[in-house]
Amino acid sequence: MTPVSDPSSFSSLSKCATKHLNLIYHVDFDRHVLKGKVALTVEVLEDKFSSLTLDSKDLKIFKVSANGQAAQFALGTKHKFKGSPLEITLPFELSRGQHVIVEIEYETSPSATALQWLTPKQTAGKKHPYLFSQCQATHCRTMVPCQDTPSVKHTYYAQVSVPRELVALMSALRDGQEPDPSDSSRVIYRFRQPVSVTSSFFFFLKSCFFKMLEIGPRSRVWSEKECVDEAAFEFSETETMLKTAESLAGPYVWSQYDVLVLPPSFPYGGMENPCLTFVTPTVLAGDRSLAGVIAHEISHSWTGNLVTNRTWEHFWLNEGHTVYIERMIARCMESEQLRQFKGIGGWKELQESVKQFGANNVLTNLVPNMHEVDTDEAFSLVPYEKGFALLYHLEELMGGPEVFMGFVKSYIQLFAYGSVTTEEWKNYLFTYFKDKVDILNKVDWNGWMHTPGMPPVKPQYDTTMADACTALCQRWVKAKEEDLASFTEADVKKLNSPQLIEFMALLLQEEPFLLSHVKKMQEVYQLNSVKNAEVRFRWLRICVKAHWEEAVPLALKMATEQGRMKFTRPLFKEVYNFSKYSDEAVKTFKEHRGALHPVTAMLVAKDLKIDG
Ligand code: BES
Ligand code: ZN
Repeated sequence: MTPVSDPSSFSSLSKCATKHLNLIYHVDFDRHVLKGKVALTVEVLEDKFSSLTLDSKDLKIFKVSANGQAAQFALGTKHKFKGSPLEITLPFELSRGQHVIVEIEYETSPSATALQWLTPKQTAGKKHPYLFSQCQATHCRTMVPCQDTPSVKHTYYAQVSVPRELVALMSALRDGQEPDPSDSSRVIYRFRQPVSVTSSFFFFLKSCFFKMLEIGPRSRVWSEKECVDEAAFEFSETETMLKTAESLAGPYVWSQYDVLVLPPSFPYGGMENPCLTFVTPTVLAGDRSLAGVIAHEISHSWTGNLVTNRTWEHFWLNEGHTVYIERMIARCMESEQLRQFKGIGGWKELQESVKQFGANNVLTNLVPNMHEVDTDEAFSLVPYEKGFALLYHLEELMGGPEVFMGFVKSYIQLFAYGSVTTEEWKNYLFTYFKDKVDILNKVDWNGWMHTPGMPPVKPQYDTTMADACTALCQRWVKAKEEDLASFTEADVKKLNSPQLIEFMALLLQEEPFLLSHVKKMQEVYQLNSVKNAEVRFRWLRICVKAHWEEAVPLALKMATEQGRMKFTRPLFKEVYNFSKYSDEAVKTFKEHRGALHPVTAMLVAKDLKIDG
């Protein structure tokens, strides 16, 4: 392994490594804090070891000890997004190969960016409070002092005390529960994670009044009881997907694969917490449109959780490979044409992201420099879709999907339980395809990896499924006022829901439509009443772009009723760009700010140029 340094972490990485973590939490719903006690088992990697630095952000540290003896500690200056280094001095010296147990008593802050505390009113059931965490990429340090970097992996054990009416869940295997001996109104839930994980894929939620349904031999779905049946229907293909993924990538090592449906403010579509995938409820449209998200998060069980990017600069290794496997699952379960169709959609998303950032922006590099860059601000679909395009391009060069998936599987087996850099990935690619090195040498690696903008080569895609979408989009683009009567409901009835989404995405890429066209589209296709969030958010953006004033309240409603950043940020931005309604966008944001997830609130404030 090349020497480790991670620009997103303050923690000591070359001199010690966490191997296990034992965590005790008391969840205080009144004060919005977690009282915590953590014991880190740390392996020493150098001689004369007597101090270490951990990551922390907004934590109150009460007491630190090392192997039971009091240790000195100090919090360094707070960095805007990286937090404060926690410097610990041991009362003794250790040598390479020894272990030390560092125990820390602390408390989180009510503004911890990993956590969202929901009032009963913000939940479906309206009766109980709810708390969930989202640690990726660098928020775990607001919940626990640790080496908050994907280059460090460890097992963990945890005990979480919550009020008796609530259930606690974690990204781990459940290990029983018991009444809290110190407070009869509370219960302690225990968890164990026997496979090494990194801090960002660590956590959990605890909370609410849950219901659980079995959806397969190793899978359960958890949600507030109001939507558990709907969720069980949506996720009924989970076991088939797991089996398909195993046949592609090797055995599933995490034992359990459960799905937790979060409240609408969850900022992502899905999050691959080991053993317990988190998903947004915004895709419960009754049409299994969540299948893609689940296939994606399942794929992370291999690329992301088992093989992990060494630092966030190599994030494409997680997301690019995951998108590649997710689309291989689509190929196995549906058809090659569907995979190709998704590839075309991905290329278009890449064009959109590059346009958003600007084609010269170094954040559109496949491997961006993350020094002094906030991972939340850098987030985009570039690592997903430039990463996929590169892998798909290599697949074309190396001999097709079976051949290339053979490489991906072998890469997974080689780097399993560890972390990897782009260079190590590339070296292994050259080793695996040793007979085809001359073809690989012709690839413009610098263009693909270290140059901003679109990739140097556009791969070939089969357009069978996309043709209908392109044709209908072009009919609208070219239509004159007098042609509008030729459109009928039948145009979209011929499209399935992924095609309808693609059609909307194509329309959105065009210059703003004339208001007359958009109104006609509503009249014949009734898009205002479509529930599928992927269709709806694109449709509302098209309307606002065309300055249809009636769509403004609908767009702001969608932006605030759910908080998935993929939808909320562009909707707010679109309304803000409609100059007559800029103030309205800002006002609505300010009114709802308190109910938004802290990361969503921070990013929307930036998008709308609101200071402080
Ligand atoms: N791990 C990501 C979500 C993430 C990335 C959270 C970076 C925080 C920082 C997850 O696997 C993901 O990619 N989710 C997508 C799902 C989609 C690609 C199917 C999402 O949220 O939209
Ligand atoms: Zn992902």
